[in-house]
Amino acid sequence: HDTTRRPALTVLLAAPRGFCAGVDRAIQIVELALARFGAPVYVRHEIVHNRYVVESLKAKGAVFVEELDEIPDTDQPVIFSAHGVPKSVPNAAKMRNLFAIDATCPLVFKVHMEAGRHYTEGREIVLIGHAGHPEVEGTTGQLPEGTVKLVENTADAEAFTPGDPARLAYVTQTTLSVDDTASIVAILKRRFPEIVGPTKEDICYATTNRQAAVKAIAGKVGLTLVVGAPNSSNSLRLVEVAERAGCPKGVLIERAEDIPWPLFEGISAVGVTAGASAPEKLVEEVIEAIRERFMLTIEQVTTAQESIAFNVPRALREPANA
Ligand code: F3S
Repeated sequence: HDTTRRPALTVLLAAPRGFCAGVDRAIQIVELALARFGAPVYVRHEIVHNRYVVESLKAKGAVFVEELDEIPDTDQPVIFSAHGVPKSVPNAAKMRNLFAIDATCPLVFKVHMEAGRHYTEGREIVLIGHAGHPEVEGTTGQLPEGTVKLVENTADAEAFTPGDPARLAYVTQTTLSVDDTASIVAILKRRFPEIVGPTKEDICYATTNRQAAVKAIAGKVGLTLVVGAPNSSNSLRLVEVAERAGCPKGVLIERAEDIPWPLFEGISAVGVTAGASAPEKLVEEVIEAIRERFMLTIEQVTTAQESIAFNVPRALREPANA
C-alpha cells in the first residue's frame, strides 16, 4: 500500500458526541442485571436506539420485546428502555408480578413529573415532540388518554386551540432540535401569553451540546457524517443541524460500511459526530475506514465539557442478598 498516493483529508471530530449519561446508565442497567440475575433479562423496546448496542446485549443474554405480553411469566428482570414508558406498562408489569427495572433516563422522568404536576394543577398540556417516538408515547401515557396534546411543528403551534388559554402548559421531548423548538415555543407564547413551561427547557444537556458541537464544525466541512440510527431522534436532528448551519451535506450512517464514498470527491474536510446512543467504538471504526483511503489529519473541536453521570437503580446497586 503506497501511503503517499492517498489524498489528504481533514476530519473535524465534534465533541461532545456519542453516549450521553442516560444511555450509558441504561446499558449499564442491562449489563448489571445480566451479571446479577443471569440470562435471560427481558428488555422492553431497544434499550437505546442503536443496533450494535442491541446486538451486543442480545449476545450476552438480553431478550428484546416490544410489549410485555411477549414475555412469559418469569422471575427474571424486565427492563424498560431509556426512552420511558406509558404508566400502563409498569402497571401491567405489577399485575403480572414481573420484576421490573426502569432504565428511563432521569431527564425524561423529570419531564414526566412536570407533566404530572401541570395536570394536578389543572392545566391543559401541550407536548412538543415527534408523533410515534417512544419517548412521546411514554410522556403522553403518564396521563389519561387525550389529556396531552401533541404539537410537532410551527404549523401545529399556529393551529392549536386550547380549551382555556389561561390554563395551559407545555413540555417537550428531550431530543428535539433546539432551534425548531425555540420557534415553536415562541409561537405558543405569542398566541397564549399565559402558557407555563419549564424554566430551563426540557431538551436535555446532551442534545443541546451535540447540536452546538456540530454547528461549530458545519461551516468548515463539505460533508458531515453522523454515526447513529435511523430511529434515533437526536441523531436525525444532528444531520439537520449540520446542513442548516452551512454544511452542504449531512449523512446518517450506522457503520463504516455505510460511508458514502462518492460524496468525498472534491472535499478537503469532513465532519464526524455521533448521536447520543452511538458507541465511540463505531466512530473509531468509521475513522479507521476513512484512514484506509486518505492521509488523515484529525482535529477535535470541543465546544463543551460533560461530567454528568447517573446512578443505576437501587436494585442493582445494593449487594446481592446472600
Ligand atoms: Fe437522557 Fe438526553 Fe440521553 S434525555 S437518554 S441524557 S439524550
